[in-house]
Amino acid sequence: MNKFSKIGFVLAMAGSAVGLGNAWKFPTMVGNNGGSAFIVLYLVLTFGIAFVAFLAELSIGKLGETDPVHSLYKLAPKHKKQWSLAGFFMIGAVLIASFYMVVIGWIVKYIYISFSSLPSDTTQSGAIFESLLFSEALNSILCFTLVFIIVFYVVSKGIKSGIERLNVWMMPTLFILLLVMFFYSLSMGDGFLKAVSFLFVPDFSKITPEIVLQALGLAFFSLSMGVCVVPTYAASLPDGTNLVKSTLSIIFINILIGIMMGLVVFTFVFAYSGDTTQGGPGLIFVSLTTLFAKLGVAGNVLAVAFFTSLLFAGITSAVSMIEPFAFYLINKFGFTRKKALVMIAVFVYILGIFCVLSYYKPTSENFVFFNKPFFDVLDYLTSNIIMPLAAITFSIFVGFVLKKEGLFILFSTFMSKNLFEIWYFMLRFVVPVAVFAIMLYQILK
Ligand code: PFF
Repeated sequence: MNKFSKIGFVLAMAGSAVGLGNAWKFPTMVGNNGGSAFIVLYLVLTFGIAFVAFLAELSIGKLGETDPVHSLYKLAPKHKKQWSLAGFFMIGAVLIASFYMVVIGWIVKYIYISFSSLPSDTTQSGAIFESLLFSEALNSILCFTLVFIIVFYVVSKGIKSGIERLNVWMMPTLFILLLVMFFYSLSMGDGFLKAVSFLFVPDFSKITPEIVLQALGLAFFSLSMGVCVVPTYAASLPDGTNLVKSTLSIIFINILIGIMMGLVVFTFVFAYSGDTTQGGPGLIFVSLTTLFAKLGVAGNVLAVAFFTSLLFAGITSAVSMIEPFAFYLINKFGFTRKKALVMIAVFVYILGIFCVLSYYKPTSENFVFFNKPFFDVLDYLTSNIIMPLAAITFSIFVGFVLKKEGLFILFSTFMSKNLFEIWYFMLRFVVPVAVFAIMLYQILK
């Protein structure tokens, strides 16, 4: 049977969770929302809500032991067909893959840039980034294609010899690269201390309802929830795996890497008096590269290490986005893995090219939908609509449709009766309401 090993599962799931989100969504949101108070809030929401919902998604995969659509069908006591449709939230993962791999493509380009001379001021640096986005469609497409080939090659090898093997070496390597940068940041004295106080001394006056909702959204995205990655990987869990401990390890690794990335990024920002509120790609592609440039050759080495760690973080996440739908096509139509992947690949490739063209100046006008470039439409649709809807549906399914006794049997070896009761209550009443609140907010704002 093509199953993960226990450690393979934790690494693969952590590999999915740790991604571009940790590198720029997390530091950016921390930066924009007053630092440490946001981290405290993020931790509370991660443990209070995302953790609860994550266990629900795990139980669908573990109890169903097949792809999300068939697992839901198998587990629902009635209205099987209707419930099984919720498995199609996995299409969200394929949509994310299309634009996410374009961004990993930019990272490839930045690894290349890091070998030569880095831009030394933000105007020059901004111009390089803008030129990649708005004028160099061919370069973007080439880099995207390279990433696309690697990702599909890995998934074509299956869970054990593809996804697990990739994660078993990429995740530790990523961690070592990050450690190197972390120790380098430590040696930067004042900058590092400022980064620490920025990240760890809480200022709760900054927390508004809006920020609570943003932090919850980040917690879901960052743990790859709501698009069927968790149930898909859980279907290949070896028996006897401690579900609670594994989930806590995944969450711990995800937070640790987010915080380390944050410390590295902000140490540089403070050391060279960069702008802490500059967000998103700007923080990483524009600011950070100019800060590296100030260090001469050491800066080039650090830049290569930094972008390579981002590349690894991105690739281990991207493979997880493809697997759910591939698994479904194989089960439903009896396709070989290759055939299923070719179908998904065509779809992802076309959407990916559309994403590139939606930023490329000469064609951008043709790729505007709902007043947004196609790239942003996919991002919005997946993070703000599909992910939260799926999280609500899965928590209702596990909380109200599945039998409580079955869930207790699944979890009883890993948690006490009281803890189980708390989890069950949170799953039924806190998670759906909280997620509904984020969704409503995102739509109305
Ligand atoms: N968790 C990934 C990140 O933080 O970058 C993003 C992600 C991966 C979202 C896999 C969804 C997914 F299915």
